Amino acid sequence: MRKVTVIGSGNVGATVANVLAHKDLVNEIVLLDIQGDMAKGKALDMWQQAPVDYYSTRITGTDDYAKTADSDIVVITAGIPRKPGMSRDDLISTNANIVSSVTAQIMKYSPNPIIIVVSNPLDVMTYAAWKTSGLPSSRVFGMAGILDTARYRAFLAEALNVSPKDIQAVLMGGHGDTMVPLPRYTNVSGIPVTELIDEASLDAIVERTKVGGGELVKLMGTSAWYAPGAAAAQMVESILKNENRIYPCCALLNGEYNLHGVFVGVPVKLGANGIEQLIELKLNEAEIALLNDSADQVRQVMEVYDGLSK
Ligand code: LAC
Repeated sequence: MRKVTVIGSGNVGATVANVLAHKDLVNEIVLLDIQGDMAKGKALDMWQQAPVDYYSTRITGTDDYAKTADSDIVVITAGIPRKPGMSRDDLISTNANIVSSVTAQIMKYSPNPIIIVVSNPLDVMTYAAWKTSGLPSSRVFGMAGILDTARYRAFLAEALNVSPKDIQAVLMGGHGDTMVPLPRYTNVSGIPVTELIDEASLDAIVERTKVGGGELVKLMGTSAWYAPGAAAAQMVESILKNENRIYPCCALLNGEYNLHGVFVGVPVKLGANGIEQLIELKLNEAEIALLNDSADQVRQVMEVYDGLSK
């Protein structure tokens, strides 16, 4: 019996549940929202999609944490999204309370879950969930890097007029405008991207990627959900199938990259136990400087969280 709970039935939470249901990997998905009947309604709608799209996953909606009991994985999407003009960090005081109390409720009913955080500000909300849960950091991590690299890969696919399937890339750092796309680790079916695109165009794509979330907030008045939801579902898939896929995820560093006690995006191997391995790339000086800047930025917001939770 495989059970996944998704907390928050907004756009992102509902998309995680829907993409996951289509993968037909789990017996049960519980979609939980404490506000109104939206989770119940969306879950019922998705369950009625099962005969059409051919999946067996049972999806139920609830506002009762007891129904989340014994979940293998919990995906936290609860919290308010950005509005135009806001940075992800502006969400901290509201979302810190939400994510901490959600995590405490989860832990009451599931003894040893893997928790994937999607709420913003992502890196610090992952820290909040880890701290509240008491779980090892291999079991609490955040979704950002898959989304950010997906944006980078999509922009590259468009510029090069190739399939996005063929673009492989790594991106590190926090899920903010200081994220660090790594052209040196980007290739198109094995061909280094720098052989296919000029420097100015690549730089422009890197810059667009860094503010990729903000571009969508401006267009829609709220933050994105299709790519974020699919990215979180892909992490769940690697864990449940014990695939050991390597993805950039937000993880606690304990000395890796010479960083201590900070949550930032790094490449990790995801398997049955969550983070099976944290991969240390041999970064050059410029890349290290960018990663350190990004980690500093996250650390400042972690300190704001620590101040709030005192
Ligand atoms: C984004 C939000 C989900 O980057 O952080 O679209």
